[in-house]
Amino acid sequence: MYNFNYYTPTEVVFGKAAEEKTGAMLKKYGAKKVLLHYGSGSVIRSGLLNRIKKSLEEQEIAYVELGGVVPNPRLTKVYEGIELCRKEKVDFLLAVGGGSVLDSAKAIGYGLVNEGDVWDFYEHTRKASGCMPLGVVVTIAAAGSEMSSSSVITNEERGMKRGYNDDAGRPKFAIMNPELTMTLPAYQTSSGCADILMHTQERYFTSGGNMELTDSLAEGLMRTVITNAKILMEQPDNYDARAEILWASSLSHNGLTGCGIKAGDFVCHALEHEIGAMFDVAHGAGLAAVWGSWARYVYKDCLSRFVKFAKNVMLVDMDGSDEEIALAGIEALENFYRAINMPTNMRELGVEPTDEQIDAMAHGVALAKGEKFGSAKVLCEADAAAIYRMAR
Ligand code: NZQ
Ligand code: ZN
Repeated sequence: MYNFNYYTPTEVVFGKAAEEKTGAMLKKYGAKKVLLHYGSGSVIRSGLLNRIKKSLEEQEIAYVELGGVVPNPRLTKVYEGIELCRKEKVDFLLAVGGGSVLDSAKAIGYGLVNEGDVWDFYEHTRKASGCMPLGVVVTIAAAGSEMSSSSVITNEERGMKRGYNDDAGRPKFAIMNPELTMTLPAYQTSSGCADILMHTQERYFTSGGNMELTDSLAEGLMRTVITNAKILMEQPDNYDARAEILWASSLSHNGLTGCGIKAGDFVCHALEHEIGAMFDVAHGAGLAAVWGSWARYVYKDCLSRFVKFAKNVMLVDMDGSDEEIALAGIEALENFYRAINMPTNMRELGVEPTDEQIDAMAHGVALAKGEKFGSAKVLCEADAAAIYRMAR
């Protein structure tokens, strides 16, 4: 077991009608003037935004609004938010929506308390000295940004999607009502489930240091997501299934399933971020499209973990060599993706990159991750290109 720091400062308010406590939570954390940040309209259509405003007004908390965040959130919107907050003297950020809105709010927060261009942090040329405090009301179980240190922003001018990790960006509080996720289109629900699984897998398929407790938590989390994702295909309004998935989204990416491991892998995320930057796909669906190819490319170097995954998560029960069991586990997860209408290659994702585009994406992975990357198997740019080609 490796040494670790586990830091989860976010206060979670979970359950039915949780959003009614938004104003009280803002007051508790000292907010005087809030930026109400949201996406392209789902929170307006569901009536959530009005309920949040009412909750703020009851606590006499002033606010300004900035909507229009899109999936794969854009840097230009971040700049717009920074300018608005400076002008309006905002002292607290409230993100209402999915990972894209939350990440956009985090980026605005970095931009507000640091001089210079906020994109520097996403290019890793310098570190932020802090972030304006933020709270979140989550409307989709997926990215886990509500408890994570990450923010992922797309620089549309330069065609780059990049993440920045910093504990300063972890939200002060997260309001999580599973009912709010019932209005999601089925594709977004499934895409979110794929992302949740991946956040755990990126930490599970590693070269060492795994502890029994962390493995058990990770395996239980993955089995729970698989079971409840299938329930939601038939019963999208099933409260308990929504609740299981929503809580899994937070726990899969707040560090819990990474305690004691040597290093996370995160190659599938790097591969997807390039696809997202080039083709603007849903993040979780993009991950599902490359996972099987990545797994078949690396499994021999991480065989014991793939066998464990096959037996304990996909419940593969067969006689055979370790390689056969590992491959059966990979196939079982792909079958699960098919069952929830997720792609298992890029064509099913709806993108058909040319050879030049694949080389450009592989180069982007190397720019973001360095010459060598990955933990299940250490890879380089040529390996990334080979995996993209397998995933066509
Ligand atoms: O914009 P609106 O109208 O709200 O519609 C959104 C959007 O179209 C819709 N939606 C969200 N909640 C809804 C809803 N529609 C109906 N009812 C609801 N309750 O769903 C669509 C997707 O929203 P988005 O916020 O993009 O989804 P997600 O949470 O999957 O976030 C994806 C982004 O997060 C990044 C991804 O790369 C991607 O940019 N990630 C962030 C991470 C982090 N900060 O820790 C980690 C992840 O690995 C990931 O990279
Ligand atoms: Zn993700």
